[in-house]
Amino acid sequence: MTQESAYPWREEGATPFISIRNITKRFGNFTAVDDISLDIYKGELFGLLGGSGCGKTTLLRMLAGFESPTSGSIIIDGADMTQVPPYERPVNMMFQSYALFPHMSVEKNIAYGLKRDGVARDEVKERVADMLAMVELSDFGKRKPRQLSGGQRQRVALARALVKRPKVLLLDEPLAALDKRLREQTQFELMNIQDRTGVTFVVVTHDQEEAMTLSTRIAVMDAGRFMQIGEPAEIYENPATKYIANFIGSANLLPVTIGGKSNAVYEVLHEPSQTGFTVSSDKALKSGEEFTLALRPEKILIDKSPLTDYENQITGIVREIAYLGKLSTYRVETPLGITLEVTAPNQVRPKGTGHRIEWDDEVYLGWNADSAILLKD
Ligand SMILES: Nc1ncnc2c1ncn2[C@@H]1O[C@H](COP(=O)(O)OP(=O)(O)O)[C@@H](O)[C@H]1O
Ligand SMILES: [Mg+2]
Repeated sequence: MTQESAYPWREEGATPFISIRNITKRFGNFTAVDDISLDIYKGELFGLLGGSGCGKTTLLRMLAGFESPTSGSIIIDGADMTQVPPYERPVNMMFQSYALFPHMSVEKNIAYGLKRDGVARDEVKERVADMLAMVELSDFGKRKPRQLSGGQRQRVALARALVKRPKVLLLDEPLAALDKRLREQTQFELMNIQDRTGVTFVVVTHDQEEAMTLSTRIAVMDAGRFMQIGEPAEIYENPATKYIANFIGSANLLPVTIGGKSNAVYEVLHEPSQTGFTVSSDKALKSGEEFTLALRPEKILIDKSPLTDYENQITGIVREIAYLGKLSTYRVETPLGITLEVTAPNQVRPKGTGHRIEWDDEVYLGWNADSAILLKD
C-alpha cells in the first residue's frame, strides 16, 4: 500500500476526491449558494462552518443529490455527479434529527438499508455486527432507540450511515442534539471512527470550537460564499478578514498606519493616540497605508509589575474581570482610548496574596511583533 500524505491539500497537484466547481443554487430570485468552488481530499474530515442561513445545508444537499444546482458541477472520485440521483451516488447523509425508526431495534435500524439493497442475510449480519463494534454498541443491538441515551442514538445513526460503505459521509450538525459535555466527548469518537474507516467526512456546524476540534480543514461560509478555507490553526492565526478574526475566537482591533520597516518588522502608528507599535509581516506594505492591527486576547501578557521582555508594552487599568476557572478574561482600559481584552491562564492558585489581579489595578501589557497581524478588510 502506498503511503498517502496526511495533508494532500498542501501538495501541489494532488488529486481531489470531491471537486465542487462554481456551484450556485437559487431558490426563486434568492441565491442560497453563490458560485463557490472547493476541493476536498480523500480521508478528510472537512468542516463547513457558518451562521444560520448561510447555505451550509443547501450545499450538503447538493453533494447528496437531494437538491440540484442552478449551475456548476460536482465531481466525486473522478465521476461527474451533477445529474446523478442520490441513490446512485457513493454518498450517504446523516441527518440532524438522526431519523431512526422508533419501532425497530438498533440492529434492524442499521440493517435496514442493506436489506433494502438485497444484500445476503449472512453478510448483513456480519456487517451490522462490525458496525455495532465500531461504535461500541455491541451489547445494545436488541434495544429500541428510546432505550438509548442521546449519545448512543447518535452513534446508531452513524453506524447506519456507514454500514453501506459510502465513499463520502455528509453530516449535518451531527452533534447539535447533545449537551455540551457529551458533545465534546462525541467529537473525539467521531474523529476516531472517521480515522478507522477512512471515509471522507463533510461536517456542517455553526459551532466554531467544534469545527476547530474536528476538522482537517474548514471552509468559513457567509451569505452563500466561502470567506476563507484553511486548516484550523491557519484560520485562527491568519484570519483573512476582521469578520473572520472575530467569528473564530475574538480579537482586539485597532486602526494603524504603516510607517518604516526593518527586516520583516513594520513600525505602525495608532494615530488617535500617537502610539507606535511593531508588527511582523512578510507582505510588502507601503508606508502611509492604513490597516487594522488584530491581536488575540491570549497573546497579550498581563502583569502587575512592569514587563521588560516584550517588543510592545503599554499600561492600563483593569475595568472588568471574568473569572472562567482555568482562565480569566480582563478588560483593560488603555491610554490608546481603547479597551483591550486580555486572557490569562490561572496557573497559580491565589491565596488572597498581592499577586492576584483585581478590578481597578494598574497593569502592564506586553506582546511581541509577531503576536499581532495586519488586516486590510
Ligand atoms: N427549499 C428552499 N426554498 C427556498 N429557500 C430555501 C430553501 N432551502 C433553503 N432556503 C434558504 O436558503 C438559505 C440557506 O439555507 P440553509 O442552506 O438551510 O442554511 P444553513 O444550513 O446554513 O442554516 C436560507 O435563507 C433558507 O431560507
Ligand atoms: Mg442547516
